[in-house]
Amino acid sequence: MGKNHLSHLYSSESLSAQPSAIRDICALVARPEMRSLAGGWPDAASFPLAEIRRIFDELMAVRGAQILQYGSTEGLRTLRLKLAKRMRNEGVINAKADNLIITHGSAQGMHLAAQVFVDRNDVVLVGLPTYFGGPGAVRSRGGRVVGVPVDRNGMDTAALQQKVKRLKAAGECVKGVYVIPNFQNPTGVTLSLTRRRQLIRLADEYDLVIFEDDPYGELRFEGRRLPSLKSLDETGRVIHLRSLSKTFVPGMRLGWVYGEKGAIRQMVVAKQFADAATNTPAQHILLEFIRQGLLDKQIQDNTSFYLAKRDFMLEQMAHYFPAPVSWNRPQGGFFIFVYLPPGMDAAELYRRAVEHNVAFVTGQPFFVDNSGHNTFRLSYAQAGKEDIEIAIRVLGNLIKDSLPHPKIKKAA
Ligand SMILES: Cc1ncc(COP(=O)(O)O)c(C=O)c1O
Repeated sequence: MGKNHLSHLYSSESLSAQPSAIRDICALVARPEMRSLAGGWPDAASFPLAEIRRIFDELMAVRGAQILQYGSTEGLRTLRLKLAKRMRNEGVINAKADNLIITHGSAQGMHLAAQVFVDRNDVVLVGLPTYFGGPGAVRSRGGRVVGVPVDRNGMDTAALQQKVKRLKAAGECVKGVYVIPNFQNPTGVTLSLTRRRQLIRLADEYDLVIFEDDPYGELRFEGRRLPSLKSLDETGRVIHLRSLSKTFVPGMRLGWVYGEKGAIRQMVVAKQFADAATNTPAQHILLEFIRQGLLDKQIQDNTSFYLAKRDFMLEQMAHYFPAPVSWNRPQGGFFIFVYLPPGMDAAELYRRAVEHNVAFVTGQPFFVDNSGHNTFRLSYAQAGKEDIEIAIRVLGNLIKDSLPHPKIKKAA
C-alpha cells in the first residue's frame, strides 16, 4: 500500500493548514556548529531551574496525588484568580476569573479562538508581516487571511479600514483582525496608542473580533507601557491571548485567554474535545511560583537579560552592516527586523550565510502576500555574545559583497 493511502480521507480543514516554513528553517539550522540568530526560543540560561525543582519537590511531598489528577477544562481556579488580578493591575477593570481560561500556551488560545470564530472562507486581517500562528490557526479552519501593512507604529489602521471596506463591498465575510501589539514577531514594532484606539473603533464600526496576541508585552526594556487593546475594549470584542513562555518557561506550555464570558464558554467547550484540561502539575508549579513572588522577579530578570542582548546585537549591527541596510530598535521582546536594499534577495543571503555556518530567518514567510523578499528577522534571544558578534560580522561582509558598489560607508 502507498505511503499516502489515506490522503483521500483527509478533511478539507487539515488540507488547508500549511506547515510553517520558519519551523523548517529552524530545524535545518539546529546543527551544533551553526551560529544561529534564527530561532525565537527563549535562552535556557534564563530558566529558574532551582526554584521550579524546589517547588515541584515540595508539591509532590505535600499533595502529589492532587497535582497529578485531571483538572477542570477552564484551569485551576486559584491560578485563574491570580491571573485575573494581574489583568486588573494592567488596566482591565473588574477582570474576573470567569472571563479567563488557562491554555497550553498562547498557541492553543489562538487555535481555540479560531475554532470559535472562523468558518470556511471567512477573512481575518493580519499584519504584513506577521507571526505565522495567527494565519495558521485561521487557515486550519478553512478561513482566509488578508495582509495589512505594518510600519514603525504597527499595523496601519487606515490601510486596514480600506481593506475591510473593499472586502465587505465585495461580499466577503470579514470576521476579525489578528494583531501582536507589543514588540511584534517578526518586526519588533509596537502598535501606537493612537492606532490602538483606532483599531478598537474600527472593530466596533465593522463588527470585527480582535485577536490580541501578546506574548512579549511584559518584556519591555524602555519607553512607556501602552494599554492593552483589551483594556480599551468597551464592547467585549477583544480576545486577549497571553503566554508564559517568555516570562516563565516555554516547555510548561502555559498561557491564558481573557475575553467576554460567552466567547470564553464556547472556547471551554472546544477545549473539552481538544485536551480536556491543561497540564495540572504545570499549573500548580506556576501558582506557587506566583504566590512566592517569583514571577515578577523573573520578568524583571528576563527584561534586563534580553535588554543587554538587544544592545549588544544593535552595537554589532551598527558596526558591521553597510549603510543601505536598515533596521529597527525594538523597545522590548526578542526581534530585530532588517531591510536590505529593494531588489536584494534575503533568501540568497541566507543560502550564503548557511555556507558560513550562520543562520537567520528570511522575512518572506511572514508575509501572507508573499512579499518581503528583501527582509529578514534576527533574534538576539538565544545566541551568546560570541555567536552574535561573529554572525553579524559574517552577515555584514556577505551583504557588502552583494552590493553593487564596492565603496560602502558604515551605518551610523
Ligand atoms: C506572537 C507569538 N504568539 C504566540 C507564540 C506562541 O507562544 P506559546 O509558547 O505561548 O504558545 C509565539 C512564539 O514564538 C509568538 O511569537
